[in-house]
Amino acid sequence: MKYDVDYIRNQFPALSLTVNGYPAAYFDGPGGTQVPQRVIDAVVDYLACSNANAGGSFLTSRNSDKVINEARQAMADFLGSGPDEVAFGQNTTTMLFQLALALGRETGCRKEIMITEIDHEANRGPWLALEERGFIIREVKMDTETCTLDMEDYRSKLSGKTLVSAFNYASNGVGTVSDVKEMICLAHEAGAIAVVDAVHFALHGPIDVRFLDVDYLLCSAYKFFGPHIGVLYGKRDLLAALPVYKLRVQADSVPYRIETGTLNHEGIAGAAAAIEFIADVGRRFGNLEKVAKTGSDANWSERRRLVVAGMKAMELYEQPLAEKLLNGLSAIRKVKVYGPPKGHPRTSTVSFAVDGVPADQVASALGEKGIFVWDGHFYAARLVELLGLMPLGGLVRVGLSPYNTEAEIDRLLEETCRITL
Ligand SMILES: Cc1ncc(COP(=O)(O)O)c(C=O)c1O
Repeated sequence: MKYDVDYIRNQFPALSLTVNGYPAAYFDGPGGTQVPQRVIDAVVDYLACSNANAGGSFLTSRNSDKVINEARQAMADFLGSGPDEVAFGQNTTTMLFQLALALGRETGCRKEIMITEIDHEANRGPWLALEERGFIIREVKMDTETCTLDMEDYRSKLSGKTLVSAFNYASNGVGTVSDVKEMICLAHEAGAIAVVDAVHFALHGPIDVRFLDVDYLLCSAYKFFGPHIGVLYGKRDLLAALPVYKLRVQADSVPYRIETGTLNHEGIAGAAAAIEFIADVGRRFGNLEKVAKTGSDANWSERRRLVVAGMKAMELYEQPLAEKLLNGLSAIRKVKVYGPPKGHPRTSTVSFAVDGVPADQVASALGEKGIFVWDGHFYAARLVELLGLMPLGGLVRVGLSPYNTEAEIDRLLEETCRITL
């Protein structure tokens, strides 16, 4: 069945908001998407019917365990992993600090860590913090013309001294999708651990941790229709051996050994509902015939197949919209679009600057018309510094989500044009 954006939109109560008489157009997805009603219901239902701490011998605690276990399976279907390889936490930044602090306890002779210039600070700061433990941090260059990583530089910096190579799947600043499969393979050839930040990518395409052969991968449910929680995937054997900081009384088995303290149960319940939403998109609009049933993929659960089909259906819907957005913005006088060249893999997130108008002024003028876009560096601070845009207040970022429409893009282009006059 053809993708029906009205069907999608009807599920998101927030889309009925108006601003100064204008319908809200949510282009702020890379900062966090809106949530469908079923996610809101799951959060409320958990709090109303199952609210308790986990691990007890009474009804609501047992319900809580069930909710968390089911959510772990749902997230495993989202990532293509086993449920025991999925850990929940506060957010990706905090989980990356946990991971970095644990890996920083490794006592071997590998004393170098690779980060990149294109990454969000969440995947830089925690590794840079290891400098005080004697680690040397090596930074992979980004080509400022193309906003892509310099793969030669990456290759030349990897060595037998590299303990960890940390990089993003896609840039939340400009939408560049990196060749993570190749980067992981090269990291492994050097004997290093590959850590992938998939926070921005997660909304824009299916993730397959087995295909990628990634060691650790992180994402945040609030970027793909869920509540504000973080998710860490770790290969079972690595997670089991990771020298985590944990309490004496905390379970030592995977994945619990990295889950410190009480989790956000209602958020986890909502995250599972977000996965169900994606599976529903796959069921209705996905091309299930095209989702592999052979090779290792033949072992996929029915929900994994639906999730992959759903992600692909949303991606297909967004592609022509992204094209229109890119072409439309590029055609506006005084507007400069930043991002990868045509043909390079990218998400539907498009960033630009207006000559002579600071980014926050552009964003607030659009905001007055009910058009929600982010301005600034979005914590992709190194990238924005290198583009020389800090003095102008950074970039204006337009992020497409599966509920955005062509008419909304027309409004955005028209208003941006007006700002430049
Ligand atoms: C690419 C990327 N990495 C990491 C993060 C940080 O995620 P969290 O807010 O869950 O810590 C973000 C948030 O915007 C992001 O876009």
